[in-house]
Amino acid sequence: MRQKADELGVDVLLVDTGDRVEGNGLYDGSDPKGKYFYDIVREQEIDIICTGNHELYQIDAAAREYDLTVPNFKGKYLASNLDYINPKNGETIPMAQRYRKFTTKNRGIRVLAFGFLFDFTGNANNTVVQPVAKTIEEPWFQEAIREDVDLFVIIGHVLLHGPEYKAIYKAIRSQNWDTPIQFFGGHSHIRDFKKYDSKAYGVQSGRYMETIGWMAIEGITGKGKKEKPRPLDARASMTFKRRYIDNNLFGYHYHTGLNDTTFSTEHGKKVSKMIHKARKALDLDYSFGCAPRDLWLNRAPYPSSDSIFTWLETEVMPDVIVNKERKDTPTLAITNTGAMRFDIFKGPFTKDTTYIISPFVSKFLYIKDVPYKAAKGILQLINRGGPVFEATEFSLSQLAPPEQMSILTDILVPQIPIHGAHKSGGAQVPFLLSSNEEPNLVPGYTTKDEGGDDGDDTIHAPIPYFRVPNVIQSALSFPAEGEPEKVDVVFVDFIQPWVLLALRFMGESYSAGDVEVYTDETLTDLMADWIKRNWKKDC
Ligand SMILES: *[C@@H]1O[C@H](CO)[C@@H](O)[C@H](O)[C@H]1NC(C)=O
Ligand SMILES: *[C@@H]1O[C@H](CO)[C@@H](O)[C@H](O)[C@H]1NC(C)=O
Repeated sequence: MRQKADELGVDVLLVDTGDRVEGNGLYDGSDPKGKYFYDIVREQEIDIICTGNHELYQIDAAAREYDLTVPNFKGKYLASNLDYINPKNGETIPMAQRYRKFTTKNRGIRVLAFGFLFDFTGNANNTVVQPVAKTIEEPWFQEAIREDVDLFVIIGHVLLHGPEYKAIYKAIRSQNWDTPIQFFGGHSHIRDFKKYDSKAYGVQSGRYMETIGWMAIEGITGKGKKEKPRPLDARASMTFKRRYIDNNLFGYHYHTGLNDTTFSTEHGKKVSKMIHKARKALDLDYSFGCAPRDLWLNRAPYPSSDSIFTWLETEVMPDVIVNKERKDTPTLAITNTGAMRFDIFKGPFTKDTTYIISPFVSKFLYIKDVPYKAAKGILQLINRGGPVFEATEFSLSQLAPPEQMSILTDILVPQIPIHGAHKSGGAQVPFLLSSNEEPNLVPGYTTKDEGGDDGDDTIHAPIPYFRVPNVIQSALSFPAEGEPEKVDVVFVDFIQPWVLLALRFMGESYSAGDVEVYTDETLTDLMADWIKRNWKKDC
């Protein structure tokens, strides 16, 4: 695409808005994590890159971000509201440079770029996330937004529709009423598009690198190249267009105009080799067992036999939540649904699959002998929300899959025929579907955003979406009749603050000191172990 851009005399910038780590064996499968991952990522030429929350949950991951990724993308890595605490002297220093000013190669467009993280509070203690509202009051930011540039590019692991970007937009517009602004968002895992005004737009490119978000901006006046002045009124005809490209070779071939033989570069082949070698060294294709059916995160209602959460709650947790010393004690075991990240497909369940489904290093903790009448209220409190969690930093949206931040109701996408333009062989061939000539569409994203329903680069059959609760619970070793007086409350460590808050609301005041370790293994390990024992190995 860079070569194509050069030929066309336009500029292409590659942006990464964070959450590079966690969720794939290439990162999670080694000890320490990321043994091969950082060297692979550094091979990509990224123009602007920032941090997501997943780089910051663990002390060691945040340290590697500072020690490896930041220098690997020196000058390109931006940390407008993120600091790192130097382990050698305890000093708080910027994670990376706060902003970047540069001029594009072909059009001479003077760009000022920032890299933000949303007001995240769950980070490990070796980083400091500054609230965005505070950062925009800092002198360096106030000076930067007064610079004379042709385009502001704000990238961030930040929701397009959230308060953080709204504040940044307002701050920039208060100084520059007319300079184009392009936001790149993240975090809520959806394809999303927002118009802030006629020269300020935002795009978010989904999740898990399923989507290449493509933003085409035309009509920016580049003043950086004096020899090629563009007419002033070009600014009046600016356009911002977004496309969500499915991340696969077919899309790449189509958009580059290349094919299977001509697409690969020597550099690309080298990186593919690095990936294959790493996957082999980590044994990521090792199969724990064979999934007998598909299990869905959001594609099936909960509870149901096709729900991954029903499977976890009724089959896995009752079997793996075991602590010898507390064996026959009635127990409530609670897991947040956000601990699961992806569907399980029928077929081989490999080492790589375990990290794709559940990469987190969450272990089970517990509070022993909690009065049942308090314990039994936890599930409903955390799922229903309410005053107990308001005005705390423990928002409930952190517990469920991130997609639910943006999707407010169950969406059962009706199977309506899709009208549109089907591209083939370079020409646009319009097609109209009547009920008796439906093409064989592959299920996938069918995006509706502020720009309409024409953002998806590939037309798919829609997939239903069902909301799931924040947490699920299994009741273990309960008496056959009647209610137990006391129970052990077992939970993944991530949700400890919510469990303590809920118990306090139920009139039982426990503190972190009352919490003990229940299992030494992570949820991921326990799940893999269950699969080994319960699903037959050979597919
Ligand atoms: C940060 O957390 C780690 C592990 O939880 C702890 O060992 C360390 O003392 C903490 N550091 C500071 C500065 O609080
Ligand atoms: C790929 O493109 C090249 C150059 O246009 C062409 O010569 C070749 O036949 C194409 N290969 C295939 C498999 O389509």
